[in-house]
Amino acid sequence: MAKKIKENELIKADEHLKSVAVIMDGNGRWAKKRLLPRTAGHKAGAANVEKMLMTFREMGVHHVTIYAFSTENWKRPREEVEALMELTFTYLQDVVMKKIEAGENFRVHFLGDKSALPERLRAKCVEVEGLNPDSDYICNVALNYGGRAEIVHAANEAIKAGHTEITEEILTRYMYTSESPDPDLIIRTGGDFRISNFLLWQCAYSEIVVTDTLFPDFDRDAINDAVKEFYSRKRRFGGVEEEK
Ligand code: IPE
Ligand code: IPE
Ligand code: MG
Repeated sequence: MAKKIKENELIKADEHLKSVAVIMDGNGRWAKKRLLPRTAGHKAGAANVEKMLMTFREMGVHHVTIYAFSTENWKRPREEVEALMELTFTYLQDVVMKKIEAGENFRVHFLGDKSALPERLRAKCVEVEGLNPDSDYICNVALNYGGRAEIVHAANEAIKAGHTEITEEILTRYMYTSESPDPDLIIRTGGDFRISNFLLWQCAYSEIVVTDTLFPDFDRDAINDAVKEFYSRKRRFGGVEEEK
């Protein structure tokens, strides 16, 4: 994707970059380096979410999907899981709702099974999802989300709706992400080269950028670098390279 990029300037997204997804990893290591409890890392991570979303919006990316809690994260110590649920609730109430009430142009959609969440958090998710329904900036929050569980859920929903044969188009329609295009770019912070059950159906042709930066440190410059890396890639979607 040929794109002229000026030094130190925030990249403007074009039609090649409509949808970005982020595996927000490395909060625990960020805390450990500072001899702090893991939950302090999650707090620092949460504080960075807002800044990251604003940066993507400034770039002009309309769909941002963030991995907040996986179906496998329930394996963590009970205190850590409880702290993450509490932090998510507080964040939705004190940051997301306030911003939307103040007229910020974005809306939130949750990916995953809400029924397993603490009731107070589940209800807050439903409330937040009802706000700003017409905004064209959408933040998908993967919460109690697993890519395999999502595919099984979509297949069951299709059966319930009376389909007797599954097609790619039908399955896509019943995915949690049906409102957003597949991610053009998936960024993983924290340096691990794996997908960890994230967007398995949707990642078919996503460009994947892994950065060593830990999520609480994933700032404007680091975001810009990841997007720069995306624009240096040649996407072929199984075809042959386009002539220049
Ligand atoms: C990601 O940070 C946040 C969640 C999974 C909720 P981690 O908590 O996985 O941080 P590391 O990978 O242990 O550093
Ligand atoms: C992926 O991070 C999940 C989220 C960022 C919510 P993990 O820390 O859970 O992934 P693994 O265990 O390193 O694969
Ligand atoms: Mg991790």
